[in-house]
Amino acid sequence: MTGMNGEDLELIQELLNEINILRKEKKAVIVSHTYQRGEVQDISDLVGDSLELSRYCASSDAEVIVFCGVHFMAESAKILSPGKTVLLPERDAGCPLADMITAEDLRELKDRHKDAAVVCYINSSAEVKAESDICCTSSNAVNVVKSLKQKDVIFVPDKNLGSYVAKSVPGKNIILWEGFCPTHYRARLEDLIKAKELHPDALVLVHPECRPEIVEKADFVGSTKAIINYASKSSHDKFIIGTEMGVLHSLTKNNPGKKFYLLSQGFVCPNMKKTTLKSVVNSLKEMKYRIELPEEIRTKALRALQRMLEVT
Ligand code: 13P
Repeated sequence: MTGMNGEDLELIQELLNEINILRKEKKAVIVSHTYQRGEVQDISDLVGDSLELSRYCASSDAEVIVFCGVHFMAESAKILSPGKTVLLPERDAGCPLADMITAEDLRELKDRHKDAAVVCYINSSAEVKAESDICCTSSNAVNVVKSLKQKDVIFVPDKNLGSYVAKSVPGKNIILWEGFCPTHYRARLEDLIKAKELHPDALVLVHPECRPEIVEKADFVGSTKAIINYASKSSHDKFIIGTEMGVLHSLTKNNPGKKFYLLSQGFVCPNMKKTTLKSVVNSLKEMKYRIELPEEIRTKALRALQRMLEVT
């Protein structure tokens, strides 16, 4: 939002006023993932990582949830809160990683590993969750896998998070799926080497969706919120950040004395950036886009999500 003229600022103020009137009128809460645009994060009742947002949606008594994020996140909110109206402001805000496995793919994999427990990353469709024993997010994946009694564990769809879990829980045989987040995958080891050359005394904080060779070299690996918390509490003052650029918004706002460098300029998720203040206004005005699910799928997917929430 830098480089704006008076007209732009006036327009933004009008949008903010509209959002504030509509959110009261519709008894809505607005929640945002940490990858959202800064101005969208700023109007939200809660900004969080996938786990925090799931917990909040499960316990909130709001009638309407406007979910500024991508489709699987709003879908998870609906699975946890069927009585609420859950709105995704941008219909096409999807997640390519979640689309890398279908329920049919997972059924075939289960047929090949009949004794394995099935863990699905929350970045997956409701149909895939419905086929899984338990869900996980990046912040609880290790604990979720540790909680299972089976030695064989199918982990879908993110192979990088799955590899990180496999290294952290060596007693398990993790069966991976070849999925990946295209935004995290864009960052290469060369980018990290270059960033370290430019900022040799910076700590490297990365998301486990990054390539394993990057995760291996990091000083800290965690979810987006864990990265934000780590940097905020640390006595260090320089950090190389290995996840989507949206986290820089709260990092720079809340830590004025510290410096943050993005590990790769490729860390921009085009789907997360689809939602704007205008989309939030339209969403509240027209009550769109409503997330609806067949009840049978929802109840099966709910089991996997609830089991995850019980573990953490
Ligand atoms: P967290 O929300 O768990 O940090 O993961 C980020 C992500 O995968 C968004 O797609």
